[in-house]
Amino acid sequence: MKFFVDTAEIEDIRNLLTTGLLDGVTTNPSLIAKSGRDFVEVIAEICSVTETPVSAEVSATDTEGMIAEGEHLAGIAHNVVVKLPLTLDGLRACAHFKRNDVRTNVTLCFSPNQALLAAKAGATYVSPFIGRLDDINLEGSNLIGDIRTIYDNYGFETQILAASIRTANHVTQAALAGADVATIPPDVIRKLVQHPLTSNGLAQFLKDWEGTGQSIL
Ligand code: E4P
Repeated sequence: MKFFVDTAEIEDIRNLLTTGLLDGVTTNPSLIAKSGRDFVEVIAEICSVTETPVSAEVSATDTEGMIAEGEHLAGIAHNVVVKLPLTLDGLRACAHFKRNDVRTNVTLCFSPNQALLAAKAGATYVSPFIGRLDDINLEGSNLIGDIRTIYDNYGFETQILAASIRTANHVTQAALAGADVATIPPDVIRKLVQHPLTSNGLAQFLKDWEGTGQSIL
């Protein structure tokens, strides 16, 4: 499963890139608003530090507007992925970008049928939102599994990008359900490595090693 980081904060992206674990970046209008920075400037800066796919979301709600904004965003750098909402207008824009070899991320997916439509429209990625389904007392990870089954039934190439991930457990659930990618907030990525038995085990090894009085170098 590929790991994308879900943030518009350049320092987090730089830091996580050094781990070699990062396969891409996703942003959304809320994350851009939180950064307090200019949208195009942020996307250009992210693309200047990574060659991996960087999702940038349109704000227009009509097909023509989405196409115009998407073309502008795709012009920022070769690795920009145009993020479009899962509406009929968004799907029309998605089909346009597919015909023009521009990669897309169709976002705000909450049902298997919506994911089916995104694949038929030629989306590169579809983003089912796990956390927001959990918020309304549904099992978000079931959606990932259902989409996996549907895409495998028909050989759709659209990649399932598990989004709205809030916990380390969501990452496990997305991986078990067969997501191709998970987009994960920076703090959750850092939590994935943590385990008390690892910390305790390491502390004990270090203590015992010190007792030997040896050094490797
Ligand atoms: C990413 O593409 C999504 O916009 C993001 O994961 C949404 O997360 P949230 O539901 O925690 O806002």
